[in-house]
Amino acid sequence: MKGIILAGGSGSRLYPITKVYSKQLTVIYDKPLIYYPLSVLMLGGIREILIISNEETIPFYKQLFNDGSHLGIKIEYAIQAAPKGIAEAFIIGESFIKDESVLLILGDNIFYGSLDFLYKGIKNNDGATIFGYQVTDPERYGIVEFDKDGKVISIEEKPQKPKSNYAVPGIYIYNNEVVEISKNLKPSGRGELEITDVNKEYLNKGNLRVEKIGRGIAWLDTGTPEALLQASNFFGVIEERQGLKVACIEEISFYMKYISKNQFESLIDSIPKSLYRSYLEKVLREY
Ligand code: G1P
Repeated sequence: MKGIILAGGSGSRLYPITKVYSKQLTVIYDKPLIYYPLSVLMLGGIREILIISNEETIPFYKQLFNDGSHLGIKIEYAIQAAPKGIAEAFIIGESFIKDESVLLILGDNIFYGSLDFLYKGIKNNDGATIFGYQVTDPERYGIVEFDKDGKVISIEEKPQKPKSNYAVPGIYIYNNEVVEISKNLKPSGRGELEITDVNKEYLNKGNLRVEKIGRGIAWLDTGTPEALLQASNFFGVIEERQGLKVACIEEISFYMKYISKNQFESLIDSIPKSLYRSYLEKVLREY
């Protein structure tokens, strides 16, 4: 399975934070926001990843991750010239996806807690798998309605009268048909190729599954300055309390055995003296 991180969008709601660079590079506590979705892909066992962003921002991602080989993964880059919707990622990524299935995560979506929902989704997917997360403000999201057996009844983008409180987070799993489906979409009223329209297509074919994300899992919003502060505080509290870092991609590479102990040592050597480096040295010492 291939992985795509879509780090697009203009981020205009966060102006002036996003005047110079994109939202996915803003800091959540001690690392750039994009580390969080990248870590989810890595923990999901996905090692071939395409980062899609605008032309100006891609050099920054390259600076951060290069080709990913130091992390034992392969990272490629592609440009989304204008924010024309989430589903465009599958058209841009066609030659990267080839004939495989694909997991797409939005570069500003943060998940924290047990990833069992994801492991189950990856294991059981044969058409499309989306996730459902209970929220108090369903008008702001894609909303999925399902019956008591978990069968999807409807899915709507930002409905005025939501049929459920289950929002669809920015993490989606598809078989290879998603490329053709996306190519045949028409732009929505806001001029975007909507991911919800992709999901509707799978629903019409009877091939859309929803996996509920239960209690104890955090799906955090990063759309406003207040939400950014809350997310930073959230991870600050957890990291401080346990002395363990969240979304530390170097540690995850080592933990997932994507790199050997020797490679981990040289990776640490390449990092400037910092609290981040001291943390990785501790991980190595305690291994
Ligand atoms: C997008 C999707 C929406 C989904 C949300 C998750 O919304 O269109 O279905 O619930 O991401 O973050 P947007 O951020 O484009 O408003």
